[in-house]
Amino acid sequence: MTTAYTDAPDGLITVAGVYAPQEDSRFLIDVMEKTGLARGRRVADLCTGSGVVAIAASEQGASSVVAFDVCQRSARCARGNALAAGADVDVHLGSWARAAESGPYDLVVCNPPYVPHDPDAPCTPISSEVGSARAWDAGRDGRLVLDPLCASVHDLLAPGGAFLLVQSEFAIPRQTLAALAESGLDAEIVAYQWIPFGPVLESRAGWLEETGRLEPGRREEELVVIRAERP
Ligand SMILES: C[S@@+](CC[C@H](N)C(=O)[O-])C[C@H]1O[C@@H](n2cnc3c(N)ncnc32)[C@H](O)[C@@H]1O
Repeated sequence: MTTAYTDAPDGLITVAGVYAPQEDSRFLIDVMEKTGLARGRRVADLCTGSGVVAIAASEQGASSVVAFDVCQRSARCARGNALAAGADVDVHLGSWARAAESGPYDLVVCNPPYVPHDPDAPCTPISSEVGSARAWDAGRDGRLVLDPLCASVHDLLAPGGAFLLVQSEFAIPRQTLAALAESGLDAEIVAYQWIPFGPVLESRAGWLEETGRLEPGRREEELVVIRAERP
């Protein structure tokens, strides 16, 4: 059952267990706004969480917006937020892969789970107000969602369509670029941002150091936004 409500900084409501919009959410929204890619376009927001990116796409002038999330609380929360914001967002409960049922899209946006995770490594519990582990845990290399997504997103896009994705350095952006290129998209990193570790990465810092992915003592990560286009 839903246990707590918090006011996210974006003015949206998030409930316990739903990913509260963070730097990565805002970074993706900023790039979407700067590129003007949502205006007048059919947009799909995969892994919508609170719906923050989908609502921003609608506010930036998208002609239609659909959104997907596997988490029931997130889907319900995104619907409520869209309604409260007066944004026309069609929220579906289900995997991002369900987007294939209603495509193609001119713009696909995604802030997926991308944090490397070792189920056997000890890590401190994270407050449910930040979200649920499903929102960030993405296997030992952080690519549990990224790999199938990169292989399939080409088929979600209309010719000339674009894909905007935010991810961490720890989930190996060059593999994302290679996978997108392999699928026939022209892909590049279009924005970088350094941010301090949040509670999730803080809880994994020891493991990331032990496995050689993090310099001892560093507590900042680099986020990137990748833009890929279907010719
Ligand atoms: C990092 S959060 C991003 C939420 C929101 N888009 C934002 O930027 O604040 C990732 C979201 O992906 C959802 N998710 C995880 N696996 C998924 C999947 N296979 N298909 C769709 N959604 C998924 C989680 O429930 C979570 O809400």
